[in-house]
Amino acid sequence: MSFRLLVVWLLIASASPGQTVHAISDIFKPMASPALAVRDLSYLVFAICGAIFVIVGGLLAYAVIRFRRRPHHDNIEPPQVYGSNQIEIAWTVIPILIVFVLTMATARVIAALQDKSQPANAVQVTVIGHQWWWEFRYPGLNIVTANEMHVPVSPTGKDRPAFLTLESADVDHSFWVPQLSGKTDVIPNRENHMWLDPHETGTYYGNCAEYCGTQHANMLIRIIVDSPEDFDKWVAQQQSPAVDNPRVSKARDAFLGMSCITCHTVRGTPAHGTFGPDLTHLMSRHTLASGMIPNNLGTVFAWVGHPQVIKPGNLMPDMQLNNQELAQVASYLATLR
Ligand code: CUA
Repeated sequence: MSFRLLVVWLLIASASPGQTVHAISDIFKPMASPALAVRDLSYLVFAICGAIFVIVGGLLAYAVIRFRRRPHHDNIEPPQVYGSNQIEIAWTVIPILIVFVLTMATARVIAALQDKSQPANAVQVTVIGHQWWWEFRYPGLNIVTANEMHVPVSPTGKDRPAFLTLESADVDHSFWVPQLSGKTDVIPNRENHMWLDPHETGTYYGNCAEYCGTQHANMLIRIIVDSPEDFDKWVAQQQSPAVDNPRVSKARDAFLGMSCITCHTVRGTPAHGTFGPDLTHLMSRHTLASGMIPNNLGTVFAWVGHPQVIKPGNLMPDMQLNNQELAQVASYLATLR
């Protein structure tokens, strides 16, 4: 097994010079209104908690130093104080006021985020958490994709926010792209909602934020924020059926003859499975395996051949394909742009 692992990783490494897959996301650089609101609230909470820390820590340090035991104190009992109504009232009332302020400030931000009304031009996305990948469906646009969500940029003034409906196909997950919004849990048999209005184009990274099993850590999210023109282009491209490249018709027929199609959809072909990611425009995505590895012919080959080596425990079985079958499947998939 270890030799196979080495081969697979060498393939991936060689096929992707200089490409990084994992990326960090800074919660202190919010790029959308919900994340801005969360950051501002966190500053207030940090300020209040910081002040409490300085006051309590300062008084403690003062008391420790000022009233430390000194040589001439030997055998002298310090003055005995039995309670003080004023101090007890102060240390009861002040924390209650602090908690009240924090509660009200938090409730205000939550209410403002939840009450946001949906403009008619909003992009609607249904996010479905699976062990261990994300399905993105655009019900108004007839698009199904995986792991990489495209939304249009929404600079202040001409807003086209994205409204997300979050569902789970199996267990609890949590959808978190820190620069765009706070996290929202993804719960079976329940619909949760959130929205984003990314202020700048670019790629934003996130993770599943609720432990959901073996590959929880490899349930990565990418949100690609496009200019309005690029978004429309992406939509048109995703809406089209799968490319039918005559040069790979033999490979396509081989693929369609395998059990791959019971789990995967390739629109425009007999492959209608919905258990795994939609592959109609597989190669339009930058990564495979929910953001784990870059996406290119070499990694598709490695992934189809050794899914359990690359992402142990994931629900894609090792199909035990021989080299010829593997080459056919990979070369067909690599044409799905
Ligand atoms: Cu999905 Cu953790």
